[in-house]
Amino acid sequence: RLRVAVLASGRGSNLQALIVARDAGQLPVDFALVGSDKANAGALQLAKDAGIPTFTLNPKDFANRRDFDLELFRQLDASGADVLVLAGFMRVIDGEALKPWVGRMINIHPSLLPKYRGLHTHRRALEAGDVEHGASVHYVTAELDGGPVIAQATIDIRPGDDELQLAQRLLSFEHQLLPAVLRLIAEGRLSLLPPDRVALDGEPQDAPLQ
Ligand code: GAR
Repeated sequence: RLRVAVLASGRGSNLQALIVARDAGQLPVDFALVGSDKANAGALQLAKDAGIPTFTLNPKDFANRRDFDLELFRQLDASGADVLVLAGFMRVIDGEALKPWVGRMINIHPSLLPKYRGLHTHRRALEAGDVEHGASVHYVTAELDGGPVIAQATIDIRPGDDELQLAQRLLSFEHQLLPAVLRLIAEGRLSLLPPDRVALDGEPQDAPLQ
C-alpha cells in the first residue's frame, strides 16, 4: 500500500476526510506521519486520535526557511512516505528543499487555479464578481500554487454569498476531491510525474513569508 505523509497547519478537515475515506475502505493507503508547523493545529489531534504518528517543527527554532524545510523533509523521508499531501499547510516551501519531492507531493488549494494563488481566495473570487469558484489539487513545484493541476471541483457562487459561506460550501467539495485524487495515485491510475518534467516549471521562489 502507498505510504502517505500529510502536512497541515490548521483544523485538519481535509486530513480527516482522508482518514474517513481510508477507514471506509475507499482509500488504500497507510498514513506514515502527519507534520505541522503549529503545535496547536487541530490536524495533529485528529491524527493522534487515528493512531498516526505526528511531529511539530517550530519555524522560530530555525535560522531560515531552508533549514526549516530541510529538517521537515528529513523527517518525512525517515517516515518512509512515498507521497506527501499538503492539506492546509500554510507555508511557502523552499524551492531547493522540495526538489526531491517534486512529482510526489500534492497540494489542495481553494481556488480554480491558475486564478487566485496565495491567500484569501474566497474573498478575491467574490470581489472579482466571479460566478464560479472551486478547489484544485496540483503537484507542488517551486512556484507557489503554480504546479500542474491534476483535478478541480467547481461550484456556483450564489447571490448573497459571503466569504465564510463560500469557504464552507467549497470545503465539502474539497473533502471529496482530495481523497479522490489520492485514490487515483494509490491505485496506480494517475502517474506521478517524473521530477524533471515538472521541475522545469518553476524557478526557485523567493516569495514573502506567509
Ligand atoms: C482548505 O480550504 C485548503 O484548501 C486551504 O486551507 C484549508 C484547510 O482546511 N489551503 C490553502 O489555502 C493552501 N494555500 P483544513 O485544515 O480544515 O483542511
